[in-house]
Amino acid sequence: MTQAKRLPIGILGSGKGSNCRAILERIRSGDLAAEARLVVSDVLDAPILDIAREFGVANAYLPPGRFRTRLEPEIEEQLVQMLRDADVDLVVLAGFMRVLHEPMLKAFPRGIINIHPSLLPKFPGLEAWKQALVAGERVTGCTVHYVDKQIDHGKILAQKEVTILPNDTAESLHARIQILEHELYPAVVAEFCKRYGASNEQLGCTSR
Ligand code: GRF
Repeated sequence: MTQAKRLPIGILGSGKGSNCRAILERIRSGDLAAEARLVVSDVLDAPILDIAREFGVANAYLPPGRFRTRLEPEIEEQLVQMLRDADVDLVVLAGFMRVLHEPMLKAFPRGIINIHPSLLPKFPGLEAWKQALVAGERVTGCTVHYVDKQIDHGKILAQKEVTILPNDTAESLHARIQILEHELYPAVVAEFCKRYGASNEQLGCTSR
């Protein structure tokens, strides 16, 4: 029996990595025809790196350099190289707290996706669930989108709605959004896997 072609993905994150875990669990259970080649974090002790180790996925800490919200350009070039060396085709941002710039965007023109905890285009930026609460919204949610040069901005791929309850706190709302994130993100990655499995082309990476 021939095995389905598996989409090589790289996951970038800065924090607790619950979305990374959700994706790795689906891969392990055979639901997702992907292969996690590499997990990279800009934070040395980020739990996402422990999760990668738990699942036996290659992982690396990438010292980000002197800027707070982005990688130094040479370091971003290094990141491109690491992902290329790992033959990554789709880059999955899972709580990666740095804005990507030209090196990554040029290397993976349609191959970087992100998950954001609001119904974009509403509430881009930090703590989007708090922004929704403060704005008095009745519904918020999460969005998976392509990454482009603006923050939380590229083409929207999928969204899920979450009703805001009258007694919601920022924590309770974020927790409910995350439950849906863990369904939505693997489902979107599954769509990429289908396309990859059905074609002879790479999805998003320019020539190596
Ligand atoms: C998620 O809420 C995601 O929407 C945002 O960052 C958070 C990452 O959470 N981009 P985790 O590290 O995957 O648990």
